[in-house]
Amino acid sequence: MLRNKKTALFSLGLISSISLTAMAQAPQHHVVVAPQCLIKHTDFSFKTLSETASFVLIETNEAGIDKLIDAKTQYRASGCGGFVNVTESWDAFQPKTLAKDKRAKQFLIDYTKPTKSISNLSKVGYEIKYEKQVNTLLSQLNPQMMWDNLSTLSSFQDRYANSDHGVKAANWIKDYVETLAKNNQRSDVTVYTIPTGSYKQPSVIAKIGTSSAPGIVIGAHMDTLSGSFSKKPGADDDGSGTVTVLEVARTLLSSGMTFNKPIYFMWYAAEEQGLVGSGYVVSEFKKKNIPVDAVLHFDMTGYAHKNESTMWLMSDYSNKELTAYLEKLINTYVKQPVKYTACGYACSDHASWNKGGFAAAMPFESSMNNDNPNIHSSQDTMDKLSLSHMTDFAKLGTSFVVELAQPLA
Ligand code: BES
Ligand code: ZN
Repeated sequence: MLRNKKTALFSLGLISSISLTAMAQAPQHHVVVAPQCLIKHTDFSFKTLSETASFVLIETNEAGIDKLIDAKTQYRASGCGGFVNVTESWDAFQPKTLAKDKRAKQFLIDYTKPTKSISNLSKVGYEIKYEKQVNTLLSQLNPQMMWDNLSTLSSFQDRYANSDHGVKAANWIKDYVETLAKNNQRSDVTVYTIPTGSYKQPSVIAKIGTSSAPGIVIGAHMDTLSGSFSKKPGADDDGSGTVTVLEVARTLLSSGMTFNKPIYFMWYAAEEQGLVGSGYVVSEFKKKNIPVDAVLHFDMTGYAHKNESTMWLMSDYSNKELTAYLEKLINTYVKQPVKYTACGYACSDHASWNKGGFAAAMPFESSMNNDNPNIHSSQDTMDKLSLSHMTDFAKLGTSFVVELAQPLA
């Protein structure tokens, strides 16, 4: 009798703790656009909402997202391409009164259509006008700082968007820029975060300048895949881009230079989960009607195939004119060979901006055919990277923000 009672109490306790956990947990609903070839390679539970010859719109849960990530990691070489988590835009998609299947069909049609550009950058022009200011800043870049920061970032077990390590990494970046602003007595800097839906890790943003002119964005993704089975240092993907952006920010904040246009430094969360963090950032900018002239995205800047110093430019999911301008900046300020390559799918956060109608561009460390074979594994470590290659991208980033944000005086 006593035993029974105990069991009953115990099971009651168990039930209530289970439901508490369920309540505390993030919502399980995820809506994803995935290539047909990726879905074919995976075995998991999902509901097809709509499909075309090349894409499927599916509804799944967190376990499904993990399965998709496993599949894309395993079949990366097959050139199938990644998936994009569209939960936020699907949930907001109108009209809600439409039957779910019709709504899904319309959503997928709209999603796969090329987006209309809302950027007015063509009016801004792509000139080289501030050589003196750019060269002053270039002489202040400190490669050793990048290396030290990369060493800190790759020492976390992972920077996974749903782990406490991932949140700590985001906080480390936030503290780093806050300290920079404070030490340089800058009163024109705002550091803030944008939440990433059901993920723990927020994106981190540092805005310099207070004018309401259109902004210039420079960013990288800070997250890695989960390190619960093996460490995910993510030195190249995308620790390299993260520290490239940090070094541009450090140099600029210490210079005391001010600009006509605000500059936004961004470190996106949950890129590896389907461009989730940048998706939330872009939708926040659109909701608040914040104008943006140009977006530069660094994802992998440290691996130099055969030690070649060529800087590659992504020709897809990006703005042609802005990308051509990068070539001009490299010729003027970095003086390295430039070549073009393509991801073939929405491979990183520039695609979120591009989808939102903003002018975005993505320079890259190597050609797509000779990319770093160690990414997404415990082998993505610093010893395979070139600090001088990374520094060249920091030079490009610096010249980009100075020329486009226009220094005052
Ligand atoms: N850094 C990679 C993208 C990449 C890898 C570009 C190799 C060029 C060469 C990025 O972090 C990534 O892994 N992207 C995913 C897609 C994303 C939408 C989940 C990918 O490529 O599978
Ligand atoms: Zn990646």
